[in-house]
Amino acid sequence: MTQLSAARAKPSDGSKALYGGKGTRRITVRDIALAKERGEKWPMLTAYDAMTASVFDEAGIPVLLVGDSAGNCHLGYETTVPVTMDEMTMLSAAVVRGTQRALIVGDLPFGSYQEGPVQALRSATRLVKDAGVGAVKLEGGERSHEQIRLLVESGIPVMAHIGLTPQSVNAMGYRVQGRGEEAAQQLLRDAKAVQDAGAFAVVLELVPAELAAEVTRVLHIPTVGIGAGPETDAQVLVWTDMLGLTQGRVPKFVKKYAALREVMGDAVKAYAEDVVGGTFPTEEHSVH
Ligand code: KIV
Repeated sequence: MTQLSAARAKPSDGSKALYGGKGTRRITVRDIALAKERGEKWPMLTAYDAMTASVFDEAGIPVLLVGDSAGNCHLGYETTVPVTMDEMTMLSAAVVRGTQRALIVGDLPFGSYQEGPVQALRSATRLVKDAGVGAVKLEGGERSHEQIRLLVESGIPVMAHIGLTPQSVNAMGYRVQGRGEEAAQQLLRDAKAVQDAGAFAVVLELVPAELAAEVTRVLHIPTVGIGAGPETDAQVLVWTDMLGLTQGRVPKFVKKYAALREVMGDAVKAYAEDVVGGTFPTEEHSVH
């Protein structure tokens, strides 16, 4: 980028910044592209319901992903594989209703796009029309480029997802991707394939930091890292992991910003003890 175009892309008063911006209209994929031109980093979080989505929206998170991680984090499945289109549509609609500014990206669940571009278009259209999302996400690089191309040609913005793709857990497990020369070259081919197909951004999950940095330098669309080091254009975390609500171990790349599981557990026990001991309700919480 030249100095002149850098100056043009730079928000003078912060009003166009993705995070910390003052606008109340929905963020669009064009805003996302301009942020890459400005070299502006941005945060993304998952969301699965209207109430928590409204908290993240009010905090200024510019992009919320209704991830199929809802399978493990919200619906009680062991993996993302069983998640259905009905479930993703219901959860995405709730997140859209709970927000005013964030761009809402709805995940296409396993089995809703692998048959080919036409199936992908049918599924994505449902998330756009019935749930009101502004974009969809799907997994796969070269193997998904035809699906991405048709969706984009049909007017549906697509966020791609390469590296570790959890819907393929039965085939690849949960392992770092892109280690070694051959795997790194494949990841670069995947990244270029989704960009050429028209994706507006690409998630890089669990790939070595140096490789994620190279992909970020090579692409003109933003990279969104999760377990991909500090050099990607954006970062995404699963909200139940980063706020400490997830039960048991969370991946090494997660930073915990709160301990909601303890906070909620302690509050619920205090309530239960008040009820059992007869100290709730008191006069203050009674009507006459
Ligand atoms: O489903 C999800 O939450 C995701 C993120 C981990 C990127 O795909």
